[in-house]
Amino acid sequence: MMAANDNNFAVAYRIADGMGGYRHALMTDTELHLDFDLASLAVIGKRHFSDHFREKGHILKGGGTHLQCEVGKSTSAGTCDGALYGVVFEQGASNAVDLYRLDPGYPELRKLVARVPLPFSPGSFHSFVLTEEYAVLPLQPFSFDSLEMLEGSDLMHAIKNEGQNTTLYIVKLLDGSVYQAVFPQQLFYVHVVNSWQNSTHISFDASVFDRQSFTFDNPGMVLEVLRNKTARDTSTNTQTIRRYTIDRASWVVVEERITEGPSFVDFPQINPHFLGKPYCIYYGIEWKHDGIEYGSWALRKHNICTNEVQFYYEASTFVSESIFVPTGGPREDDGVLLLVRTAGMTNESSFIILNATCMRPIQEIQLPHMVGWFGHSTFFPEFDDG
Ligand SMILES: [Fe+2]
Repeated sequence: MMAANDNNFAVAYRIADGMGGYRHALMTDTELHLDFDLASLAVIGKRHFSDHFREKGHILKGGGTHLQCEVGKSTSAGTCDGALYGVVFEQGASNAVDLYRLDPGYPELRKLVARVPLPFSPGSFHSFVLTEEYAVLPLQPFSFDSLEMLEGSDLMHAIKNEGQNTTLYIVKLLDGSVYQAVFPQQLFYVHVVNSWQNSTHISFDASVFDRQSFTFDNPGMVLEVLRNKTARDTSTNTQTIRRYTIDRASWVVVEERITEGPSFVDFPQINPHFLGKPYCIYYGIEWKHDGIEYGSWALRKHNICTNEVQFYYEASTFVSESIFVPTGGPREDDGVLLLVRTAGMTNESSFIILNATCMRPIQEIQLPHMVGWFGHSTFFPEFDDG
């Protein structure tokens, strides 16, 4: 699929279309849902929603990229057999983020779960937290100064700091009631690893930046930094996996660090049978795998419960996000990992199937073209090319 810009097709999803099949769509970093045909990969166009939940005088502009499948209804990564939850920003005289639900059979009707008033227009809600009963929306303390942008500044130069704390808005899915928890530090993240709840706490793991994610020394954001070996190797805005535990009585938030730098870990995936539940193992891309070079990449497998770490590493290659497909065994790592690996020295790409238990390849299929690095992957089990 070709697009005119970066991150146009960040995430794909499916939802039951009410006629025995599925509607497939791509999410961007905007409020748009782009329907596409799974067989031809042709983009059909923007979804036209029949709902009218926005407040009078407001527009729906911007929103969350990663829709979340209701707990227990996802049978494979990136796919869903139940309702999907998403967020969209409301902008007008005041700011809000709307949590909505797309029910199976009604792909064109976003049902408002909660309108959450915000003190400023959010910089990003790329992903959020979903448990059996709650959605947690962490409002990262930054925004984009629209006046600066109107005067010609780009996104990076228009970033505005919005304080030293991070407010987490906790929405009860059943009735849309909203609670607040304040984490007394800045929390900057892009991707949530997993989230779950018990009778006393809500917990989630995320890939968290040391500082605001859109920094000028970040090789993932600035091309000149990425192309300069010294600059990219000395960049320090590390992404580590951290756990946040929210007390459901006091709303106190506690942070625990699961990994430490200098390696960066992002694009986490887990066995989808454990989405929304306590789990042990995540798989993620690791930059600075050798502790020194940003260009040293590996696929990391980390069992948080036993602290065992395994890697799939080939020198001078770049790996995409991997998708975990369960193979039916009783262990959490009984499955295969699907990914694309591109060799920097030969500009060749291969589709790799790894045994997730031992992190060794089962099959490598060389692709006819080089595939530039991309982030997210999706596995559609219903795809059949006939
Ligand atoms: Fe993402």
